[in-house]
Amino acid sequence: MSLDYQHVLDTIQSEVQPLLGQGKVAGYIPELSKISPERFGMAVYCLDGRAYMTGDADVKFSLQSVTKLFALALAFSREGDDIWKRVGREPSGNPFNSLVQLEVERGKPRNPFINAGALVITDILASRFVQPDLAVLQFARQIADEQGIDFDQTVAESERKTANRNSAIAYFMKDFGNLHNPVDAVIDSYCRQCSITMTCAELAKAGSFLANHGTIPWSGTQILGLSPAKRLNALMLTCGTYDAAGDFAFRVGLPAKSGVGGGILALLPGEASVAVWSPGLDPTGNSLAGTYALERFTTLTARSIF
Ligand code: DON
Repeated sequence: MSLDYQHVLDTIQSEVQPLLGQGKVAGYIPELSKISPERFGMAVYCLDGRAYMTGDADVKFSLQSVTKLFALALAFSREGDDIWKRVGREPSGNPFNSLVQLEVERGKPRNPFINAGALVITDILASRFVQPDLAVLQFARQIADEQGIDFDQTVAESERKTANRNSAIAYFMKDFGNLHNPVDAVIDSYCRQCSITMTCAELAKAGSFLANHGTIPWSGTQILGLSPAKRLNALMLTCGTYDAAGDFAFRVGLPAKSGVGGGILALLPGEASVAVWSPGLDPTGNSLAGTYALERFTTLTARSIF
C-alpha cells in the first residue's frame, strides 16, 4: 500500500509545536548551545527514490553521535567481525559518556554507539586510514550522494577544547590496551567526525542503504552485506539511543541512531529511512520532539519493525 508520507509529515509538524522549546539544547559543547530549540525538521527517503520533507528539513545541523553509525559501518565493512574483539554488542544502560562500566569490564566498551565504543572505532579507523575523520566524511558524502557535506570546524574546535571526559575515557582504555593510537590523535579525529553537518533530507538519504539491506538504493552499490546490515540495524535498535533504547523501542519501534545535535536517523527496513531534527534534548540526550515525532510517525503510518 502506498502511503501519503507528505500528509503524515505535515500532521506531525503541527503536532510537535507544543513540544518545541521544552527540551534542553546540549550545553557541554559550547557551540551547540547557540542553536534555537524551536527548530524542527523531518524527512522521509523511500527506497524507490521518492522523498518527502517538512519544516526545517533543509537546514544543516550537527550530526554528533549519528556519525558513530557511519564510522561503524565503515569499520565493519573493512575489518569485519574482528571489531567485536574490541567492542561489545550489549546495551549499556548508562549515559552515553559514562566511564563506570569500563573499569570492571577491563576497557572493552559495551557497544560502538556509546562514546567509549565510538572512540575504539575511531582508533580502528586510525590504524587503517591516515586521516580517519576524512575517511568518515568521504563515506558520508558517498552514502548521501552529496559532495558538499563537510565538517563544521567551529563545532569541532569547540568540542575539542572541552573534551576532558572523552579524553579520560580514551586514556582509561589505553591503559587496558584497547586504544592503539595516541589519545590526542584519536580525540582530534573523533571531534571532527562528530562535527559533520547534514540536513534531514541528506541524512534520510544517507541512511537508506541500511534500510535496504546494505545496498545504496539509487546506485546498487553494496556497502555492507545482508548479515552485517542486519547486525547494524539490531545494534541501532538495542543501543542507538543509549540508556533510553528500551523506551525508544517501546514507543517508536524502529532501529535508530541519535545525536546531541538533536538529530535522529530511523529506519523502516525494506521501505524507507526517516531523519528528524529538533535540538531540544530529553535528559538521556535524545531529541525530545524528534522522539515524539518518530513515535507519531509509526503510529500514523502503522509501520514499524514489529
Ligand atoms: O562525544 C560527545 O559527547 C559528542 N561529540 C557526541 C555525543 C552524542 O551525540 C550523544 N548523543 N546523544
